[in-house]
Amino acid sequence: CGIFGYTGTRRAAETVVDGLEKLEYRGYDSAGVLVLSEGDPVLVRTVGATRELRERMGKQPPPGHTAIGHTRWATHGQPSERNAHPHRCGQVFVVHNGIIENDSEIRRELHHVGTAFSSDTDSELIGHLIDRNMTSGMDFKTAVLATLPRLSGTYSFLAVTDRSDSPVIAVHMGSPLIIGKNAEGLFLSSDAHAFPPEVSEILPVSRGDVVILSSGKPPEFLLGAGQEKPFQSWSVTPETQGKGIYPHYMLKEIHEQPGVVRNLLAGLLEKTDGHLKINLPERVSRKLHKARRILIIACGTSFHAGLFGKYLLESIGLVSVSVEVASEFRYRHPVVDPERDLAILITQSGETADTLSCLRLLKELGVPQIVLTNVEGSTAVREADDAMFLLAGPELGVASTKAFLAQIVYMMFFALELGLKKPHPEHSNAHIYSILDEFFRIPALMEETLNLSPSIRDLVKPFTHLPSTLFLGRGRDYPLALEGALKLKEISYIHAEGYPSGELKHGPLALVSDSMPVFALVSGSELLPKILGNLKEVHSRSGIIISIAPASLKGALTDVVNHQILLPPVGDFFLPLLSTIVLQFISYHMADLKGFDVDRPRNLAKSVTVE
Ligand code: G6P
Repeated sequence: CGIFGYTGTRRAAETVVDGLEKLEYRGYDSAGVLVLSEGDPVLVRTVGATRELRERMGKQPPPGHTAIGHTRWATHGQPSERNAHPHRCGQVFVVHNGIIENDSEIRRELHHVGTAFSSDTDSELIGHLIDRNMTSGMDFKTAVLATLPRLSGTYSFLAVTDRSDSPVIAVHMGSPLIIGKNAEGLFLSSDAHAFPPEVSEILPVSRGDVVILSSGKPPEFLLGAGQEKPFQSWSVTPETQGKGIYPHYMLKEIHEQPGVVRNLLAGLLEKTDGHLKINLPERVSRKLHKARRILIIACGTSFHAGLFGKYLLESIGLVSVSVEVASEFRYRHPVVDPERDLAILITQSGETADTLSCLRLLKELGVPQIVLTNVEGSTAVREADDAMFLLAGPELGVASTKAFLAQIVYMMFFALELGLKKPHPEHSNAHIYSILDEFFRIPALMEETLNLSPSIRDLVKPFTHLPSTLFLGRGRDYPLALEGALKLKEISYIHAEGYPSGELKHGPLALVSDSMPVFALVSGSELLPKILGNLKEVHSRSGIIISIAPASLKGALTDVVNHQILLPPVGDFFLPLLSTIVLQFISYHMADLKGFDVDRPRNLAKSVTVE
């Protein structure tokens, strides 16, 4: 969910709805805004996203200079107007992000004393607890503070009362919250990118902080150490906002990838007098070299980047790697060794609750951690020992594209850095330096790959009505196959599975027919004969195979596959950076051809801040 608040001299309703629009990637099944104005407060809520909210407000949004708003990704209670935030609870209004874990107990207790509920959410309970405290004589601040010990879970909320001069109280207990300021007032948001461009200073609120915002005054911290922290300067460049010439953020973000790799190379690879050097921060490279085992922990697309990393880190970096989905790692009582292990947590947002809870567990267990994230100032960055940044710029399409690509570039660099210090028959230092040198050519080859977009659209058109697809890959292409399948199901709602090619005959071959397209990643490694063998198994059962391979393999594939997507000639090491783009286009075009909202797939959210 996304929360946004404002108090100052602007018209608050428009300011908050503009902010919510930029937070839609965090949830978009319902939205609402509460405006404090002279007379009664005005509450507008709707099912759907902020477009509906604007329509509902009509041409004359409510006047008033303080407002709080919310865009929701349903957890407790289905998407409906009654479950949309802000919630009115007597004289108190709240918007909330996260989960109150002891909600059943609080609900029972409130029910017992005759509280009437108007939603199925856990969020409403916060408001009722504050309201009851106020009814028993406490002022607003004291009532909020007295409510907090009653709540368990990871959450943030904003609360106001129904008085037109009410301050906004913001509570951060684990879900992100940032204060922004400019000459026109104070802003609160789950993400700084939702602030209007005139906001020039920000202050990230920390876990445990309670802060009170009143128009015309500096923020006052009631709990936490925020008072001592200075505001930091902040700016967003206009090109990072909006879709530019593209119809969707996802398409824009796919096209930004060559630039992302250029950015990363500028920071990670130094070339002076023809001499190449990998530039990792000293602490990070020391940790990498010391590790006897690397634990990679992540969710969703970031998990696939971790799996990809395992192949490289083991084959080139010669270090044992285990990769795990965060929600599994956290609760299975993992056996770790703080002396030998290093944890790499991969998270685009730096806010995914499952990944953060692993980070906290690893800290408790004394395992050193490096976070790989796209968001400076995110919770993961604040809490981890060390952080490295993906430098991909804000990613707003729910389906991750450029952040994934940046994550796999990091996996490559970590592996090459380790490889340089390990004697290895296949990956001598000379070989590693030649790979590093080739890196500079890759952004241009990625640009060439982007030109395949129209032909991929034509190619996939006949498959959009089919119910199911398979993505195959072997070796380091296997995690990419998983990612290709995830992308397709996320945005086109076509069932898709990623499988290791060699595993096909152990089950999924039974599904193969002329109504199931099989997308096959093929590279020219020593595994090629085996991959071709696997594809022949599909071919002889009338499967439709679409290969994604470098142009050099065209001849080898002619008799085995039905369609070929040919990539520019590139060494095997770099092929994933090109085939990833093709996989992204396959899902983008299939979803778009089906008429779906590519940036806002149903039931999903970009940043999942609940476990
Ligand atoms: C959500 C998003 C995915 C993302 C995953 C992990 O499920 O929809 O696109 O891969 O969270 O997010 P993170 O920010 O931790 O990489």
